[in-house]
Amino acid sequence: MNANDTILVYFSATNRTKNVANIIAQKLGVKSVSLEPKEPYTAADLDYNNPKARVYVELQTRPNVALKNAVLSDWQSYKNVIIGYPIWWYDYAWAMNEFLTSNDFTGKNIAVFATSASSGLGASAENLAKKAKGAKLIAKKGFEMINEKQIYTWLDSVKE
Ligand SMILES: Cc1cc2nc3c(=O)[nH]c(=O)nc-3n(C[C@H](O)[C@H](O)[C@H](O)COP(=O)(O)O)c2cc1C
Repeated sequence: MNANDTILVYFSATNRTKNVANIIAQKLGVKSVSLEPKEPYTAADLDYNNPKARVYVELQTRPNVALKNAVLSDWQSYKNVIIGYPIWWYDYAWAMNEFLTSNDFTGKNIAVFATSASSGLGASAENLAKKAKGAKLIAKKGFEMINEKQIYTWLDSVKE
């Protein structure tokens, strides 16, 4: 992966995934895009202990949440896409869906990372790759603690 043909795209509701994304983008010198829901998630929306909270209601269908920037203008120029997301109920946050279905992943390599509290990646990387039709999943990594050394070690292992 080199800076010219790689882009990083992530969603982050409480900045943990954003922190990892920023470390990666800085290290690799790649462009980084934060996916922004048209209706941002508030703290109340994210309260997964409350059955009336937005995330709890959305969990029933894991919908395509509308994004302000699902379609990326310079998409064709990238061969590799690094994708970051939080784990929501053992899977990738569905706020990623519209990005995954609105862009053509044919011929693209994807390297995915997630942040979670404790449960790790689960099957989220494979599930996400299925939604990104045509993508080749070349690497995956879950982060619970966020530390630069661990992130750099992962990046060094990503070969393509
Ligand atoms: C709706 C929701 C569901 C979550 N489900 C899980 C889970 O299944 N396993 C886990 O370890 N953490 C879970 N978490 C915690 C997040 O994965 C974790 O805080 C993550 O780093 C948040 O990333 P962000 O700050 O980029 O949004 C959940 C958080 C939310 C809001």
